[in-house]
Amino acid sequence: MQTTQELRHDLLEQIATATTPRDVLKSAAYKGLYSGLGSLSPDKRATRGKEINDLKRVLETAIDAREFELESAHVEALDITAPWDVSGSRPELLPTSQGTRHPLTTELEKVVDIFTRMGFEAIESRQIDDDEHMFGALNFPENHPARDGYDTFRTEEGFIPPAHTSTMQNRILRAGKETLEAGGQIAAVSYGRVFRNEDVDATHEHTFYQCEGVFVSKDASLAEMLGTLRAFFEEYYGQSLKIKTQPAYFPFVEPGLEFAIEKPAALGGNPLSSVGEWLEMLGCGMIHPNVLKAADIDPQKYQGFAWGGGIERLVMLKYGIEDLRHFESGKLAFLRKFVA
Ligand code: DAH
Repeated sequence: MQTTQELRHDLLEQIATATTPRDVLKSAAYKGLYSGLGSLSPDKRATRGKEINDLKRVLETAIDAREFELESAHVEALDITAPWDVSGSRPELLPTSQGTRHPLTTELEKVVDIFTRMGFEAIESRQIDDDEHMFGALNFPENHPARDGYDTFRTEEGFIPPAHTSTMQNRILRAGKETLEAGGQIAAVSYGRVFRNEDVDATHEHTFYQCEGVFVSKDASLAEMLGTLRAFFEEYYGQSLKIKTQPAYFPFVEPGLEFAIEKPAALGGNPLSSVGEWLEMLGCGMIHPNVLKAADIDPQKYQGFAWGGGIERLVMLKYGIEDLRHFESGKLAFLRKFVA
């Protein structure tokens, strides 16, 4: 008769190559282990019984491992970072000729181009930042409830994927301080991706784009700001527009305003309605003295205005897009509508 050791070796070998490894537990060789048990003395039966149980545990572990191996063999490797399809024997490049620019890239370029032509310098907004730039330097007091309105993500180390492009204001101001003091002015826009921990629906996304503007001089005024914004919107939509503002609270501006345009007939507005449909496009205002101070700029000598708003909203109005989620969906049917 085979010793348990020998049998163990044989059974493990069978399991390692079996296509249905669990059947090994039903084999005659394995079942035979139990057959002589009843005729053994109680002492020997106990020892033998334990041996068999130990063996069973080892076999089951091996069976689990073999089953996992068999299952895994059916999963095709997919390297989502590779620019080609790795499941074939030879890497095949995905045809870039079938790719198209994302509409947000195209529209963001138009936005930035308009501001550049108006004399604003353009810089990309960071995608990872810290509490000081996101809040502190923007006059959000520590533990102030206004911080909660930004539904901010945080890394375990305490870094923030910014929830607004205003996170660049302090850097813009610091970089422009010298020019300002030499008699010039600060004029910059900052554009890029921002992130909020939001429940996603037709008008909310966790990832979206904003454009921020900052202008500082000895005598910058609200009137200049409204003129700048109107010029921008009229250029972007290619038509004259009615604008209006209403008071709003943002810690980094005083006064703070919401800026709205009236939906024109060409963009789906109702020309027969006497009321008009007002669309809130962005937040803006005169830069708060504490924000200037945080960048070492003397608020007694200089003043400025700032604005910031979402890019998707602009684009949705322009093309009659009804659902914000299309932009991040990667759906080709949507993206191909924007092929030039
Ligand atoms: N950062 C604000 C937001 O994301 C928008 C904003 C409002 C920006 C007023 C500004 C401003 O620069 O002056 O909700």
